[in-house]
Amino acid sequence: MKQPHLKTTENKSTLLFVFSGTGNSLHTAMKIQESIENCEILSISKVLEEKKFHYKASKIGFIFPVHFQNVPNIVRKLLKNIKISNNPYLFAVATSGGEIGKTFQNINKILDNQNLTLHSEFSLVFPSNSIIMEDRTSTPKKIERLIKNSEIRINEVIEIISNKKIEKCMYKKSSFKDRFGCLMGTFFLYRIFNDRSFKVDNEKCIRCGTCDSVCPMNNIEIVDNTVTWNHNCECCLACIHWCPKTAIEHMKTQGIPRYHHPDITIKQLKDYKSKS
Ligand SMILES: Cc1cc2nc3c(=O)[nH]c(=O)nc-3n(C[C@H](O)[C@H](O)[C@H](O)COP(=O)(O)O)c2cc1C
Ligand code: SF4
Ligand code: SF4
Repeated sequence: MKQPHLKTTENKSTLLFVFSGTGNSLHTAMKIQESIENCEILSISKVLEEKKFHYKASKIGFIFPVHFQNVPNIVRKLLKNIKISNNPYLFAVATSGGEIGKTFQNINKILDNQNLTLHSEFSLVFPSNSIIMEDRTSTPKKIERLIKNSEIRINEVIEIISNKKIEKCMYKKSSFKDRFGCLMGTFFLYRIFNDRSFKVDNEKCIRCGTCDSVCPMNNIEIVDNTVTWNHNCECCLACIHWCPKTAIEHMKTQGIPRYHHPDITIKQLKDYKSKS
């Protein structure tokens, strides 16, 4: 019988499961990795693709963007399948534009199936990449301020994780808009806002392959000289934001400035997505 995969790490090790499109979550993970000894970054999409679900480590963290005021589908898939042994210190870092709804409550609900719960929950506010539903992008000045503040917050997070302290996110009572957003996201919005509505402008496109390089799902190919999506999209928007020619649009994104974390490169995104 085939033995299940088990990633066993040294006693002191930390595993970071990461999903990121425009680099806010990857940057956070890389800063944590730099500051904590024996810390490894794993790509959530790669882990799911390879069905590697058994883990044993001293600290385990999940770092991802908030989608529709909730846990992104792909992170939910991981949490439902992952098997964690030896009761590690568990934490989650949700990066967002500031509206996180019930993200952490929903993670804890899923983990409860394994009698696990997050020891720490961190909400980090960044410039938002959510340009498909509404223009939540920021001015360059606001981006600079948000990035500066996020660096301070990342350092606080590192301190808490290093010492295995507990920090629970303060929940405001969720408004009707929050609950509606969450519900809509889970059931409808991924079906509307996905690669079936992406369009490439062949006049602008230079066939550089950047969209393919940054897509964490390897969902993009250039077929017959045209960028093509293969409908395995997790709506991270990396392709739209990283295209150097602004050649990709989704419904009403024309004229809206694109964003990616200033310290993350295409190469770093490309490298991280193959880590499992
Ligand atoms: C499909 C989608 C939905 C989003 N929904 C929300 C949201 O409900 N609340 C919020 O504050 N930010 C939302 N955002 C913004 C991202 O959570 C935020 O920009 C995040 O830091 C991006 O992380 P990344 O750079 O690692 O991809 C959304 C982004 C996308 C692509
Ligand atoms: S990143 Fe933009 S320019 Fe490059 S291949 Fe993709 S769509 Fe074309
Ligand atoms: S196709 Fe674009 S939006 Fe979809 S997963 Fe790939 S990079 Fe993200």
